[in-house]
Amino acid sequence: MGKILLTGGAGYIGSHTYVELKAAGHEVVIIDNFSNARKDVIDRLAQITDSPVLVHEGDVLDKAFLATVFASHDFDAVIHFAAKKAVGESVEKPLEYFETNCTGFSTLLMAMKEAGVFRVVFSSTATVYGEPLSLPYTEDHRIAPVSPYAQSKVTCETLLKHLKEADDRWTYGVLRYFNPAGAHDSALIGEDPNDIPNNLMPYIAKVATGELPQLTVFGDDYNTPDGTGVRDYIHVVDLAQGHVQSVDKLIYDNSTHILNLGTGTGYSVFDMLRAYEKACQKPLAYTVGPRRAGDIDCFYADPASAREILGFEARRGLDDMCRTSWNWVSRLRNV
Ligand code: WQD
Repeated sequence: MGKILLTGGAGYIGSHTYVELKAAGHEVVIIDNFSNARKDVIDRLAQITDSPVLVHEGDVLDKAFLATVFASHDFDAVIHFAAKKAVGESVEKPLEYFETNCTGFSTLLMAMKEAGVFRVVFSSTATVYGEPLSLPYTEDHRIAPVSPYAQSKVTCETLLKHLKEADDRWTYGVLRYFNPAGAHDSALIGEDPNDIPNNLMPYIAKVATGELPQLTVFGDDYNTPDGTGVRDYIHVVDLAQGHVQSVDKLIYDNSTHILNLGTGTGYSVFDMLRAYEKACQKPLAYTVGPRRAGDIDCFYADPASAREILGFEARRGLDDMCRTSWNWVSRLRNV
């Protein structure tokens, strides 16, 4: 087993990945600046894994902080989650997105190189593909980022490519996420956005708890079966397990890979709404509004490469995502 550093390990996907890495027998250390995560996540991770959590509070942009972390531990690999990830916000704040997502990543890679750590799993996104030329998205689909967020992820992927060309000691896994959703079965960790959510499931969750009055469906005139947007939602625990398989591929096979992490199945906004009503056992109010700028009709993954290369299979469906999300938010909000 290895010793793994998780940057942004207190976040939504990072915390779920922490649990799966520990279950797989790895030693894990978290660094997080807690800009988008609550500190009590750490106590809940300790509760789920029944073991103390090694965490250092700090920022990937802080060279001195990273140097102390790498001096304190002999890591076999790093999984890099620490980044900003809201498409809309990136349009308003491109500079902050490039500083955190690109400069943060290059600062981390420099610290890794100085510490002699050359294995990294990078958290990327399906939005690097842009408007689909064909569906499902395969990993060789044209890369055409539209938002500053997506461009920042393409920049990081390109940096990794050039880094390995320059120094073959590097080996990396790029994981292009589709739409993460759901929560841990324990209902002790899950998605907990600070403000009004951009994403569909956390928004519906706040309607279900009564924190928000109704969902606005962003358009019902798309070229899809029920007219609403179709996406490939993947359970966050499946996604986390994909990270374990990816980092194991680096440690045991030294094999670089760039893979979609999705289910291959698309669900509409109305599919999600109905599934959530079933999970929370109550009707959820909604209204149909105008399309959201930048949204596209439909996208979903071809998951074949992740299955062939990692043995990755998403095993949880939309009902699991809604059930675990509802268990999490209803416990969190005492409803
Ligand atoms: C899903 C569908 C909306 C909210 C984004 C990022 C992507 C990734 C996942 C980071 C769409 C509709 C949504 C609402 C709605 N993030 N919707 N009402 O836009 O597919 O992907 O999050 O990696 O990079 O682009 O996800 O959850 O925002 O939207 O009708 O209040 O739900 O129009 O069809 P998206 P989403």
